[in-house]
Formats: sequence, structure tokens, C-alpha cells
Amino acid sequence: MRPSYRWRMEEKTVKKKVDWPRNLRSYEWFGGKGKNAIMCRSWMKNQGLPADTFDGRPIIGICNTWSELTPCNAHLRDLAERVKRGVYEAGGFPVEFPVFSTGESTLRPTAMMFRNLAAMDVEEAIRGNPVDGVVLLGGCDKTTPALLMGAASVDIPVILVSGGPMLNGKWRGKDVGSGTAIWQFSEMVKTGEMTIDEFIDAEQGMARSAGSCMTMGTASTMASMAEALGMTLPGNAAIPAVDARRRVISQLSGRRIVDMVKEDLKPSDILTKEAFENAIRVNGAVGGSTNAVIHLLALAGRVGVDLSLDDWDRLGRDVPTILDLQPSGKHLMEEFYYAGGLPVVIKSLGEMGLLHKQAVTVTGESIWDSVKDAVNYNDAVIVPRDKALTQSGGIAVLRGNLAPNGAVLKPSAASPHLMKHKGRAVVFESIEDYHARIGDDDLDIDETCIMVLKYCGPKGYPGMAEVGNLGLPPKILKKGIKDMIRISDARMSGTAYGTVILHTAPEAADGGRLALVENGDMIAVDIPARTIHLHVSDEELAVRRSAWIRPEIPITGGYGKLYINTVMQADQGADLDFLVGTRGSRIPMDRNGH
Ligand code: FES
Repeated sequence: MRPSYRWRMEEKTVKKKVDWPRNLRSYEWFGGKGKNAIMCRSWMKNQGLPADTFDGRPIIGICNTWSELTPCNAHLRDLAERVKRGVYEAGGFPVEFPVFSTGESTLRPTAMMFRNLAAMDVEEAIRGNPVDGVVLLGGCDKTTPALLMGAASVDIPVILVSGGPMLNGKWRGKDVGSGTAIWQFSEMVKTGEMTIDEFIDAEQGMARSAGSCMTMGTASTMASMAEALGMTLPGNAAIPAVDARRRVISQLSGRRIVDMVKEDLKPSDILTKEAFENAIRVNGAVGGSTNAVIHLLALAGRVGVDLSLDDWDRLGRDVPTILDLQPSGKHLMEEFYYAGGLPVVIKSLGEMGLLHKQAVTVTGESIWDSVKDAVNYNDAVIVPRDKALTQSGGIAVLRGNLAPNGAVLKPSAASPHLMKHKGRAVVFESIEDYHARIGDDDLDIDETCIMVLKYCGPKGYPGMAEVGNLGLPPKILKKGIKDMIRISDARMSGTAYGTVILHTAPEAADGGRLALVENGDMIAVDIPARTIHLHVSDEELAVRRSAWIRPEIPITGGYGKLYINTVMQADQGADLDFLVGTRGSRIPMDRNGH
């Protein structure tokens, strides 16, 4: 019987000499005429692949954090299809694979506890599979750092595509920002300025399209960090999730990764100390989340870049916050995109002499080449330096006897009148203790006090819950007071604001001084001088320490136990200690078993 056209074509292809470049990782799986290669190709063909799929073209993984339980990433299957188009166009073969997804709004006890698990998944999935390059698809807060950390530890060519922010939230004709509105409205309910029914009504319009939080929360911050580090195509961070150009940049990234494989352009070529310094300055310029501190420290640890909390403080001091976006300012990510997006901010930093212009990006060019032609279309959103929200927008790193290894504060979200303050400590021994007593009219507290929350660090509340922006007591809110100093070993949402001192290290559960603070102690905070001091004598602290009992953390097995036993402190990025470093793309003890 005469074979069909399709089959004849395929036979012809099989006879063609295949010249699979030996330097491609995928050659080790699919190249040649050996039994293992035949087996690998054969099983892949159950997906309906023509024989010439395996003709030496780069195999491009699409590492997808899609999940319907991560609502911010629920549209990433669509973007993966766009990436595939680009990969095909450039002569590669795309293969999509799932990895653990961390939904900030849903995952308990915290998405942060699972960032490192997701990074392990990413790392092992990339290393163990026959891929020559990878497109990383992320969006919600922890998915971006998890992807970058895992990929950096393998160090084959990768490019990141963000899911993009949601369209602006809307309620009763006004913009409402993700997260930021939740904090504002819940306080308004406490003061009687808003009813609970109105709050529930507002819920309907806060998240009205696919995408991640549309404030400069942690998701938008980390997308901006990825772009500033050079790990995305220019302009990636701000394009709304549902804008057609989000699909375009996905497709272009698919094209680009094929060339990156040919150029062997790897994360270790891009993630240099200069790239991290650029990202730190960009974080200050956009009023980015304090969570970026932890994620960039962890990522630097993966690639062996010597980055510390002091770099954050040093580099951020002279960076003006020139992006007027919530939670530090007024606008939302849609306006940022229409104003020109992150390339405009990076260009401005370059013009101020605050950019390492030669840092290489995934484009293969310098970051300056990527941004030098950017145009600011709205200087009410990306403001000139002399109209900056603050002239010192970087993260402030405080040290003192209460935080020997550092604590952080975001000046652009803090109140000027609290920058230098001494107050009486009102201590909450846990977040449950806080919830039980904060609404009590008999709570001995006024607006001059300093609220202290313990046991919410990396180990204490596994993953450092985003609870550091403790709501003020209702009786103080009713006086019209909007801010007080709060100190904890927790994190806070990137969408939150206030004079909030976070990431105190070492944490209380690890025996840090925070554990020894008692009600009535005086604490002095001096942000300009970068100090935080507990006015209790060393003798008294020694007495308290001898009586201190290390808390039991009720995790007995599974990943949680591994996490508790190996997680490092916030000043070291809260990575698991055995994950630090690059382990390369070679598979250890690769005996292939067949
Ligand atoms: Fe996913 Fe904010 S909850 S980005």
C-alpha cells in the first residue's frame, strides 16, 4: 500500500544526517543512534512529534508556575502558548512543564515557607530534564524569586516572563490598589468610616482581571527586580496581564531564549554584583517591597555574589523614589506601563549616575542599550528627581542591641515625624496574642508607644508571615492617628505601608534580643542614624535570657521539618543552608540506569 505523504516525509527526515550539536545538553538524551537516545525520542513521540523534532534544534523548557490555586498565575498557560510560538519561530522545540506554585493569598502557613521548596523543584526539574534553555513563567510574589533561585543554581540559559499586573482595581468610580486597599479599608471599618457591607462590596472590584497585584507590592517589585537584574526583556515588569503586549513579550522571549542557547548566555553571566547593585537602586527608585531584600540576598547566595544588608543601605541612601505608585504614592501599575514602564526609571537612574550601564542583560546587550531610548509619557507618574516622593528611597537597615544582625524599614512608606522616636514598648508575644488584645479598650497603649511583635521570623512563624504591619488599636485610629512604630521579626506585604521595622535578626524564636523585650521597656529608633536600641541594661538582659525558654515549633516532619532545621535568618535571605550556591547542570552520578 502506498504510504501517506506525511509518512513519506518522515522517512525522508529520518534518513537525513542529523548533526546534533554536541554542546547542547539535550544531545545527551536525544542525540545519536544508541539505545537510550532511541528510547528517549520514542517516548517523547507519544505526544505526536515528527521525527525531525529531534534534529539538533535546541529544546526549550517552559517552566510554568501556573496554578488555579495561585490566582495571580492562573493565566500563565495562555502565555506559555505564546512563548511556544516564539520558540518555534526561532527554530527551537518548546516543552512546557509545571513546578510548585506559591499563591500568596491562599497558601498556608505562608507562601514564603514554600519559596525554597519551589526553588528546589525548579532547580531539579531543569537539571534532570533534557532542556538546553528555559523560559521561566512567574507572577505572584514568591514565584519569581523561586524561579530565579532554582534556575541560577543550575546555570543554563534562562529568561523570565512575568504574568503581569491586574488592571487597576475599581470601586465606586475610584481606583483601588491590591492589598493596599485591604489595609486601608479594614482600618476604616474599625473607625466606622466604612461599613463591613461596603468593604465586601469593594471586594468585587479589587481583582477584576487576570494578573498579579497592581500596586508596587512584592509581585510588581520582583518583576521589576528581574528586569533590573537583566533577566527579562526590557519593559517586562509593567505590561498588564491582559494587555495584548503581554502576549507579544512572551512570544519575543520565546524567540530570544533560542538565541541565548546558541550564545550560551547564562545567569552567571548576567547576575553579577553590578546587576544586583542596579536592582537595589531600582528598588529604591520605584518604592519597592522590603521583601525584595530577602529575595535578592537569597538569589545572590545562589550565584556566589557577595551581597549583604549593608549593600542595601549603602546603595539606597541617595536614590530618590521617582515612581508615584501605591503603597508609597498614588498610582497603579497600569499608569506605570502607560507612562513608559521600568525602562524610563532605569534610564533616569543612568542619567543620575546611579546605574552600572554596562551590566549585561538577556538581550546580550548592556542594560543602558536597552533603556537609553525610553520616553517618559507621564511625569506625574514617573516624576522628575526634584519632585521625588523621597530623596532617600532605599531600604534603611537599622542595627543596635535589638537587631545586631539588622532590621529593615522602607522610608518611602514611613511617617516623617516618626523617623526619630523613643517610646514605651507594648509587647505582643505572638500574632494570636495581638489579635486577642488589640481591640481591648483597656490595652495600655497610646500613639507614642512602640508596638513589638515576637516569634514571627523565618522559624517562629514558618516563612516569616506578612504580619509586621500590625493594624493600630481601634481606640488610637479613632483619634485620627494613622501610624505608629511597629517592630517585629516578621515581613510585611509589599502592598503595606507605615513606620514598620521588619526582619529583625536574629529572630525571637532563634534567641534574638527581640525575645527579651518586655512591656514598658523603652526603645529608641533613629532612622537617619540607622540605629535601634533597647534601653535595658546588659545585666537585666542576661537575667531575662536565663529565664527564656526556646519555643516549640509544632512541625514534626515533612518539608516543614527540613525547613525549620535548615532555614537561615532574614539577613541571609532565608534560604535553606544547603541550597546556597550553584550546583551546575551536570547530573550527579548520571548512570542513566538503562
Ligand atoms: Fe499574588 Fe499579590 S497575591 S501578587
